[in-house]
Parts: sequence; C-alpha cells; structure tokens
Amino acid sequence: MRVVAEARTNIALVKYWGKRDEALNLPAVGSISLTLDGLATRTEVTWDEKASRDRFFLGDVEQAGRPLARVQKFLDLVRERGGRAGHAIVRSSNNFPTAAGLASSASAFAALAVAATRSAGLELDPTSLSELARRGSGSAARSIFGGLVEMKRGERADGSDAVAAPLGQWDLRLVVGITGEGAKATLSTEGMRHTAETSPYYPAWLEQHPADLDAARAAIERRDLAALGEVAERSCLRMHASALAARPGIIYWSGPTVDAFHMIRALRADGVGVWFTNDAGPHVKALCSPADAPRVERTLATVAGVVRTISCAPGAPASLIEVER
Ligand code: PMV
Repeated sequence: MRVVAEARTNIALVKYWGKRDEALNLPAVGSISLTLDGLATRTEVTWDEKASRDRFFLGDVEQAGRPLARVQKFLDLVRERGGRAGHAIVRSSNNFPTAAGLASSASAFAALAVAATRSAGLELDPTSLSELARRGSGSAARSIFGGLVEMKRGERADGSDAVAAPLGQWDLRLVVGITGEGAKATLSTEGMRHTAETSPYYPAWLEQHPADLDAARAAIERRDLAALGEVAERSCLRMHASALAARPGIIYWSGPTVDAFHMIRALRADGVGVWFTNDAGPHVKALCSPADAPRVERTLATVAGVVRTISCAPGAPASLIEVER
C-alpha cells in the first residue's frame, strides 16, 4: 500500500532537555509546544515484500549513513508492531529549506509514523502514534497533534505514558528568524547527554521544571499571553544555562541570536507583547499575538544576520493525505 502523510514542525514553549531512558527515548521532563502551520514534512511510504532493504529519499536525493540508519531503525519498530516482513521505500520532502538548519526531526518522524504504520496495514490511534513517533525524536511525539500540545514525561519504564496530548487552540503567532547557517550545532541527543553527564546545573534544571510546566498550563487556560511568554523565555534560558554550564559548555547561539533576543526585549519595553525562545541551534522564535506579528517580523528582519523571517500560525495535527491500495 502506498500512503502519503503530512506533519508540521513544532516549537517548545516549555523545553524538553534530557532523557530518562535513551533506548526508549523517554524524556526526563515534560514539555509544552505549539505546532506550526507552514513548516511541514510530507512523507510517502510504500512497502515492498520483495525489496531486500529499506530506501530513504529526502527531496530527490537518496540518503545513506546516519539519516538512512535512523529511518531503518524506526521502520524496524513498525515491522515489530505489524509483523511486516518486507522493506519500505520512504520519500520525504520539507516545504522549508532543510539547509537552513530548522529543526525538521519533529515533523519528519511524525509524518513517518503516520505513513509507515498505515501503509503496513496498522491503524493506530493518535496516542499510540505519539508514543511511536517519540522513538524517532522526542519532539516528534508532539507533532502528532495540532495547536498547543503537552508532552508528558511519564513514569512507566516501558514508556507507554510518555505521550503527548492536545491542550487546545489559541490563535498565537510564532515568528521564526533564520540566522544564517550558524556554526554546526551539537545534535540534541548528544547535547542532552553531555549536559546530563557534566553540567552542575542539570539537577537544578530538572528540579525547577515542573513549576514551569504548571505556570504554562495555567497561562494557557487563562489565555494569558504575557504569563505564557514569560515562562517560555525563562524555560529557554534555563535549558541553555544547563547546557552552557556543561564541561565543555555547549553554545548554541550565534551573535545574531543574542542580538535578536535583545531586539525582542527592546520591542517589549516599547509595549509590544513579544517573547523569545530558541532551540538547539542559532535560530530565534518570537511568540506574539496575530495583531503584533507583522511588526515583530519587520523588526526581527532588521537584526544583522537574520536572513529570513517566517510568521507561523498554529498548525493542524499530522494527517493522511493519500491512501492507495
Ligand atoms: O526532539 P529532539 O530530540 O530533537 O529534541 C528537541 C530539543 C529541543 O528542541 C531543544 C527542545 C524541545 O522541547 O523541542
């Protein structure tokens, strides 16, 4: 069966950083994110009983090495669940430039979870898809759902409760500022491991994290953008503080990243409701209302080194696009 699925990327407002189990990819902390419209991965999966190996194309380019190995490992999980003997051909494309280094593993593994299971003849509910997507990348578990999403840390050793769930719809904007190529970033898995192993601030990160989740959940319930923005900035800076204090420290920011942080705070001092967040790379994301988004976008574009801005509304859940028998 040939199946095409689509999923959108998401940005965490309360960050996930650290794992409680590497093999099952279980997070050490929960997280809260916004799924974004406009930054999507579309993935086609076709199982072939006669093929001798899995193949993975990104854009039109056949992949080998690490990207192929990650996809194969993920397809093994689908084979385990479905008793499927064959191999799959996976064709994926992003509607945003992959070279820009925007995180794409969230949309990629969410789309692959939906397409690969369905084309293997499995019908999983969104919670089970979220659990499966998590095995590909922690943030992918959140991209199964649209809008605001909470990923649970979970307590069980088998990971069955480390899944995401929707927190509802709220018409926010996340303005992404692409800050050039930046330095080659430390991959999130390595960055988390190194932080947990060597940072004296990692225990503090874990300890304060539940209070940030509570504050964000309460802000979302009240639709209080200022309260949500404050916790988002704080969670971002605390995550980076733990990584910066590792030995050696991990610096994900470039000069333009920090300049954009200051620019966003200056805008806020000027009365605009805008707050920053940033992940395991140099790009900056600004959280604001739809009404303020054009001004935020214009201002962010004036930061030297910001090469492009994209204003994103909340995005829809991962979905099937085509099913062909
Ligand atoms: O999903 P991963 O393994 O790439 O980790 C994501 C880590 C951050 O983007 C830095 C934070 C988050 O919660 O998305």
